[in-house]
Amino acid sequence: MTQVWNFSAGPAMLPREVLQQAATEMLDWHGSGMSVMEMSHRGPQFMQILQEALDDFRDLMQVPQTHKILFMQGGAIGQNAIVPLNLMNGFESAAFVKNGSWSSKTIKEFARYGRADVVAEAREIKDASGLRPVNTYVPTIAPGSIAAGSAYLHYCGNETIDGVEFRQAPDMAALGAAQVPLVCDASSNILSRPMDVAAHAIIYGGAQKNIGPAGLTFVIIREDMLDRARSDCPSAFSYRQVYDNHSMYNTPPTYSIYIAGLVFKWLKAQGGVAAMAEVNRRKAQLLYDTIDGSGLYVNRVRPSDRSLMNVPFMLREDALNAEFLSLAQERNLLQLKGHKSVGGMRASIYNAMPMEGVEALVDFMLTFEKERA
Ligand SMILES: Cc1ncc(COP(=O)(O)O)c(C=O)c1O
Repeated sequence: MTQVWNFSAGPAMLPREVLQQAATEMLDWHGSGMSVMEMSHRGPQFMQILQEALDDFRDLMQVPQTHKILFMQGGAIGQNAIVPLNLMNGFESAAFVKNGSWSSKTIKEFARYGRADVVAEAREIKDASGLRPVNTYVPTIAPGSIAAGSAYLHYCGNETIDGVEFRQAPDMAALGAAQVPLVCDASSNILSRPMDVAAHAIIYGGAQKNIGPAGLTFVIIREDMLDRARSDCPSAFSYRQVYDNHSMYNTPPTYSIYIAGLVFKWLKAQGGVAAMAEVNRRKAQLLYDTIDGSGLYVNRVRPSDRSLMNVPFMLREDALNAEFLSLAQERNLLQLKGHKSVGGMRASIYNAMPMEGVEALVDFMLTFEKERA
């Protein structure tokens, strides 16, 4: 089988070992005579798969007992509505950080449920390069800017399209809003490094980047957030209902949960999230150093805010984009095209991407540039 390196932003590359194990178990899971896809979600085999996945996820993220883990559906975009449906009971507004495509989308959806107070916003930068304007930094939230009556403060921990990442969660006490719950969309950096789960009321995201196949949504939620739903919150989206029904109020995405469980075990075998974080740091460093050292490639994100998971870069000559992509493809470097809203390239280097894949990309980038010098 051809070795390819898949830089897709999601659905993304999965660890080879996980896919191999899934292939081995495809027709007969642990002597059951069934594929996981064919099992009742209420049967003992699947219950074991689900429980182990929940336990391993908790272990990896060091989720404190104050917080519950829910598996849902509807993706992170679904959560843009599900969070307000669950938290906006009796509140008029929530606060938001706006610094990229996904946080902008979250704010737009929220407008159906209340007043969105944007407390920090990154201005798109258009510089002398002539390249398209981009979001390039994590904006500072001014202390005192979050209204005491806000239902929550929402931020997107890693803007997947723009390649901008919070290194740390906003410090709500320092911002004078210790009582305001903190909500994070961590779709594209969950499990990439240790996170301060306790600082958050909710951390949610889609699984299809760093966890497993599409179709599964994770929600890590502090217990007191389970009972704040509006009366019109649909039962299937009620955090309380989902929790009370052990993430099975409706039929869960069983196969996605099974693969997620295998990924969690794989991560543990790699040394867990702290070990992964070190590898991720080195992978990103190599790629950013290559970009910064080149005359052809450019990444305009503020260095301290650069994403360790999604590395967008432009070619100074737009006309070379198509050739770059086609030659990359010939070298088995796949899905490098940037999001249509920003153009250029984007290399997503989630946990499953080994250093070897990044080295192959860097090697190609250097050759491509040299041949055009
Ligand atoms: C940060 C972020 N939020 C939200 C989404 C949308 O997620 P979904 O398609 O799972 O709803 C994505 C990516 O797809 C994302 O990267």
